[in-house]
Amino acid sequence: MPAYIVMGAQWGDEGKGKIVDVLAEKMDFVVRFQGGANAGHTVIHGDIKYVTHLIPSGVISGRSVNIIGNGCVVNPTTLFEEMETLRKQGVNISPDKFIISPAAHMVLPIHEYLDRALNEKIGTTNRGIGPAYTDKVRRTGIRWESACDGSFEEAYREHLDFVEKVYAIVDDKEIQLLRDGIPEQVEAVKRLRPFVRDARPLLAEATKNGSKILYEGAQGTFLDIDHGTYPFVTSSNTSIGGAYTGSGVFLDFVKRIGIVKSYTTRVGEGPFPTELFDETGQALRDHGNEYGATTGRPRRCGWLDLALLKESCMINGFNYIVFSKISCLSGLETLKVAIAYNSDGSPVYHELPGWEEDVLGCTEYDKLPDNCRKYIEFVEDFLGVPIGIVSTGPDRDHVIERQPIFAK
Ligand code: IMO
Ligand code: MG
Repeated sequence: MPAYIVMGAQWGDEGKGKIVDVLAEKMDFVVRFQGGANAGHTVIHGDIKYVTHLIPSGVISGRSVNIIGNGCVVNPTTLFEEMETLRKQGVNISPDKFIISPAAHMVLPIHEYLDRALNEKIGTTNRGIGPAYTDKVRRTGIRWESACDGSFEEAYREHLDFVEKVYAIVDDKEIQLLRDGIPEQVEAVKRLRPFVRDARPLLAEATKNGSKILYEGAQGTFLDIDHGTYPFVTSSNTSIGGAYTGSGVFLDFVKRIGIVKSYTTRVGEGPFPTELFDETGQALRDHGNEYGATTGRPRRCGWLDLALLKESCMINGFNYIVFSKISCLSGLETLKVAIAYNSDGSPVYHELPGWEEDVLGCTEYDKLPDNCRKYIEFVEDFLGVPIGIVSTGPDRDHVIERQPIFAK
């Protein structure tokens, strides 16, 4: 039985949460392999809105085993609060359904502090992600195994001593506040201990016994530390390679699903060739409610960039595309898509006629306006990857399934 992977094809916020949610309830395992609480997935079930940052979306339906892989960075207090919020919404999270890899790194208040203090250039989410991965790569990080062998408190105390030596930016008052906060971290880590164990053997077994496995990507391909718009990126591998290093198991993904928003957005700093600064950009922001789920920041908006997406398809080997938020394009007279770049880096645009009709919630492809279908088919032809699902609104049944998502 197949393994699936869902990844953002652009700069994040493509609408991964909804598709992951639809898939997750059919899965035996759901795996997060990179990132931390910089991700924000919103899932709507009936009247209830769930927001997850760290915990794989599979916990909501309660069917699957949910794994936070070694490639992730996890903040104990944030995780604990997220679990409590979900619990209050009726989601039961037990150690047999939720596992944290002992090799995943911790994000601690010192990392959040450093992120805030050093963040001017990139415009990060301030969740401590970069500093935590910095510690990982510098080999000075604290892993979740320390929750099990009782070494956490001492390791964190030593870490703060180390930080004090290394960073002139951390003043005496701040370091005292951080030291005073140690008991709170110790308590959160202690409570999370039952969830920490090596899930690699479980996953390896699952690949052999026919279990259904979903890998849930966070952020987007061009925020990848290696393949993104460096240095304006996050600190993990958000593209397909991260799935292997971030979980420790090889999987032959039968469906490599790229989520493509039908226009482009980006949060934070960094290049964005098709960005719009005019009223069309504002119209997209309003229509698409393009404000960050994690930070509330207004997202930068622009035309669809197919030249960029072609590269995304190359990197990830997508064989199935979900084309999201198409209803946000209604009412624009002309739509532009970038198909190449000029020598100065500006985009070469191809123009397509727009449509007036509201397509929110449409479930039949044939009912879409002609020009809407032409737009979809132009993208599909250009990328050479089938658009299997067109998402027409925020609800889970606001989809047009052109090609079955579940492999036969
Ligand atoms: P989801 O999962 C969009 C961006 C930040 C910043 C850069 C680095 O919702 O798609 P970081 O805090 O990771 O060090 O910030 O990456 N960024 C995201 N943008 N969606 C996300 O996640 C993001 N996570 C990080 O805005 O530019
Ligand atoms: Mg987001």
